[in-house]
Amino acid sequence: MTQAELFNQNEIVKKSIKTLKEQLLRAQESITGIRPPQNEKVEAYKSYISNLNQLRGRNLFYNYIGSGFGSGPLVELEDGSVKYDLINGIGIHLFGHSHPEVILASLEASLQDVVMQGNLQPNREYGDLLELLLKEAGKKSRLRKGWIGTCGTIANENALKIARQKNSPARKILAFKDCFAGRSTLMAEITDNDEYRAGLPRYDEVLYLPFYDSTDPHSTQKSVETLKKHVANNPKNIAAFMFEIVQGEGGFNTAPKAFFQALFEVCKEHKIAVWADEIQTFARTGNLFAFETLGIGEYIDIVTLAKTAQCGAVLYTEEYNPKPGLIAGTFTAATVSLKTGHKILQMMLDEKPGQKMLGSGGRVEKIHNEFKAMLTKLAEGDCRGLIGEIGGLGLMISMVPYDGAKDKVQKLLQSLFEKGVIAFSCGHGPYKIRFLLPAVLEARHIEEIGGVLKEALIAGRP
Ligand SMILES: Cc1ncc(COP(=O)(O)O)c(C=O)c1O
Repeated sequence: MTQAELFNQNEIVKKSIKTLKEQLLRAQESITGIRPPQNEKVEAYKSYISNLNQLRGRNLFYNYIGSGFGSGPLVELEDGSVKYDLINGIGIHLFGHSHPEVILASLEASLQDVVMQGNLQPNREYGDLLELLLKEAGKKSRLRKGWIGTCGTIANENALKIARQKNSPARKILAFKDCFAGRSTLMAEITDNDEYRAGLPRYDEVLYLPFYDSTDPHSTQKSVETLKKHVANNPKNIAAFMFEIVQGEGGFNTAPKAFFQALFEVCKEHKIAVWADEIQTFARTGNLFAFETLGIGEYIDIVTLAKTAQCGAVLYTEEYNPKPGLIAGTFTAATVSLKTGHKILQMMLDEKPGQKMLGSGGRVEKIHNEFKAMLTKLAEGDCRGLIGEIGGLGLMISMVPYDGAKDKVQKLLQSLFEKGVIAFSCGHGPYKIRFLLPAVLEARHIEEIGGVLKEALIAGRP
């Protein structure tokens, strides 16, 4: 036996971890619902945030400093307040705060010899996570290889290099209007939001297509025609078509299978890599991959994911396996990230009665239906005229408040925060409220959240 095995099986170690976990969970039991800040904490909290804002050179979006405690969908802040977290670090904490299984995995991982794992010298967690990702991705696609990295942007950068190397010397990238791709120089160029690339030089790398518009019967045809025009104007010079299956930042926009299929057919004909950016959709649409939800896995050459996985990864087919040297880097991810990422995937894949998360009759579907029903009831009842389109897929739900004006959405978000619900915005007009719901929401939570939404929407009525 290795020393590590002996240590992990040591009864004192096992008992200590169990005791720690139990103590932690017991301490969290008092977190049961929305709570206002504690008076004696307010001044110190404000001053801490004000100092942090100075250091960052820019204010935090919310006056949010987590205390490090939470319970399911609820999070405690350092001012003693407790709020519903319906954005979860923009999609990181799929099982909310302080989930016992996640805590246990992270406690175990934190006792290992290294904090960060590297590509040169990985520990077992690296291979375990990659194996599980590929096993699941491979069921409905031709994805067979993969590379783990720290975040979504790195996964996307790796994906782009892989596509360009395979399709060399082709260079350009097809992407949808309103897409979001990350924050590196090139991902900021692809991201179709001028605020995020203000002052940056443009490298003329990206060719845009309109995303699906359900109100236009010719939408698919228009996108296909634009794609064909780009192909004609850039012969043999398009390396990849990158797309989100549900546009995240762009407004939780969805499209039917036939829309994507029509575009993929043109890409295949012209040897353009079909690359799904599932960084936000991963594990959120009722299946692990949104390409499964839509039934388009057979077309996919490359997929990128991050957030819920607790690290980034790019998965690809055998033919897109890059030459040695193209993708690497010092960091893989933190040991805790790799281990908890694996645990979260196992929890999502659980098929035990009462635990089923994915597919028909799974918890994701149930939460989606209940949350949407709550919003619809508000829109048709107490908040008539104050809620427009309600959209999204699975645990990604959006709603247009009022007329979708940016300033009204920002004001509503701050009001919701004050009242105990944390959400975020998406869309570029109409602007929307975006919820990345934790997979632990129960009916009682949704009811309390509905009450807060109603109060904030009515109070902010223009
Ligand atoms: C669709 C999509 N792509 C890429 C990214 C970038 O990922 P990261 O912030 O982990 O670098 C994000 C992050 O929000 C995303 O939603």
